Amino acid sequence: MSITTDRFAGKTAIVTGAGSGIGRATATRLAHEGARVIAADVAPERLVELAAELSAYNVVTIAGDITAEEVVQKIVAAADGRVDVLANIAGIMDGFLPAAEIDDATWERVFNVNVNSIMRLSRAVLPLMIAHNSGAIVNVTSEAGLRGSAAGVAYTASKHAVIGFTKNTAVMYAAHGIRTNAVAPGAVITNIEAPMKSQHAAGVVGPLLQVVVPAPAEADRLAAAITWLASDDADNVNGQVLASDGGWSAI
Ligand SMILES: NC(=O)c1ccc[n+]([C@@H]2O[C@H](COP(=O)([O-])OP(=O)(O)OC[C@H]3O[C@@H](n4cnc5c(N)ncnc54)[C@H](O)[C@@H]3O)[C@@H](O)[C@H]2O)c1
Repeated sequence: MSITTDRFAGKTAIVTGAGSGIGRATATRLAHEGARVIAADVAPERLVELAAELSAYNVVTIAGDITAEEVVQKIVAAADGRVDVLANIAGIMDGFLPAAEIDDATWERVFNVNVNSIMRLSRAVLPLMIAHNSGAIVNVTSEAGLRGSAAGVAYTASKHAVIGFTKNTAVMYAAHGIRTNAVAPGAVITNIEAPMKSQHAAGVVGPLLQVVVPAPAEADRLAAAITWLASDDADNVNGQVLASDGGWSAI
């Protein structure tokens, strides 16, 4: 993909999950469009690869688990007091476990990564955005945030929670010039692990997924939606959930 704009020149963007998939594509696009990117991921080797690939651009990498408050503080400290864009992209799946089979560890880990980290990072970044009276937060939800048939119960509930967090934050800080939106990807070709660990789920949602899911998209196509919402082109858009899913959510 050739990028010819400089929508993010002079801006600082935090991207979580920047080592792989949608986060990596988004960090790359933001850097190519002029942003200083704080790229965070729990997998250090992925960040080393990203930094090498983007060595001509302004990229700082922070390795660590974003569910830990000290890692969140490190990420925000790297921004030197200015955050124009926060792209909360890191997320994990749940083995498609339904309510009768979900274990506490899976439920808690999925919520910690998919929801609590968004709360922690937003809580840390919002005072900086408020001080500058501007900012854009883009959270990644999922088709599973829009319907009950795209994952297990923990992932589905967590991605619905991301939408609630997005809408409340959009309302609370609109008057401070801060926009908060979400992107709901359909199937995307990434490294996310999505094993079907439940026979019950395989029987119930397996056939549905085979019938209705459009062809998986490249991660670049999600980066396009995320960066649009993060850019001034979307300056009248707040509290919205933009599905980038080849039409899945219309079925
Ligand atoms: N791939 C899809 O089909 C799809 C569909 C809908 C939604 N999503 C969502 O898109 C987002 C990105 O997923 P992806 O498909 O690009 O996956 P991916 O696994 O390719 O990339 C996610 C990255 O997040 C990092 N990460 C995971 N847990 C972390 C943690 N605790 N701290 C820091 N980094 C962490 C991983 O190391 C990985 O590099 C997720 O929120 C996912 O739920 C993906």
